[in-house]
Amino acid sequence: MVGESGSGKTTIGRAIAGLTKATGGSLTVFGHEMVGFKERKFKPLRKRIGFVFQDPAASFNPHLSIGECVAEPIAVHQPDMSAHDRRQRTRELLEAVQLPEAYAQRYPHELSGGQRQRASLARGIALNPELLIADEPTSALDVSVQARVLELFAELQERFHYAALFISHDLAVVDMLSDRIGVLFHGRLLEEGTGAQVLGSPQHDYTRKLIASLPVPDPVEQAKRRELAREIRARV
Ligand SMILES: Nc1ncnc2c1ncn2[C@@H]1O[C@H](COP(=O)(O)OP(=O)(O)OP(=O)(O)O)[C@@H](O)[C@H]1O
Ligand SMILES: [Mg+2]
Repeated sequence: MVGESGSGKTTIGRAIAGLTKATGGSLTVFGHEMVGFKERKFKPLRKRIGFVFQDPAASFNPHLSIGECVAEPIAVHQPDMSAHDRRQRTRELLEAVQLPEAYAQRYPHELSGGQRQRASLARGIALNPELLIADEPTSALDVSVQARVLELFAELQERFHYAALFISHDLAVVDMLSDRIGVLFHGRLLEEGTGAQVLGSPQHDYTRKLIASLPVPDPVEQAKRRELAREIRARV
């Protein structure tokens, strides 16, 4: 799902995970109506959804070690798992996101942004989710680090077979990872389709503007696009 700041991406992602109440319309998650849902009834569904938050610095409890942060969903949803098994599972998860095992002892502020986002991905998949919602997981990262974390996203999805809702304001990132793209604008889904459909024959000026703003290596082409983007901005 792609859209500019304030278009409602986080709100939709959080509503799907039951973290924000859906108050109108209809939202069905695993066949369950989320409008007017009862917290208690949703709990068994919530553990089938993993979530990676927008801000890697703020999404971890600074007083917990990385190992404890990653194992937090297990402690909440599988309280019967022994401490030994939980440590073992934490090691597997850190291995899956390619973080050294010793990082389990570290604290969130002792990791780089990219490492923290890996740890947050490990937490997101801790319960073997059927759906992973990743809200701008790489927006706060440096471009070079971002590419590596995105690769990791693709690898993990292939390995663990979950569906993913990837949220970003960056159409290039979304196109790289997604089978289907939805374009959100001012809280409305403007269009939805495969990457080829949305990028190849966009139906809305806003989508064209997003496409025009993608950087291209050819300076002449880049200048043309910039001009086009300016024209469309004047219209939207
Ligand atoms: N708790 C809230 N109460 C009232 N309005 C809110 C609340 N949270 C978000 N909004 C508003 O809802 C709109 C959508 O916000 P949302 O955070 O979903 O946008 P976003 O697409 O995720 O933006 P960004 O790319 O900046 O993260 C914004 O206008 C925002 O100000
Ligand atoms: Mg957001």
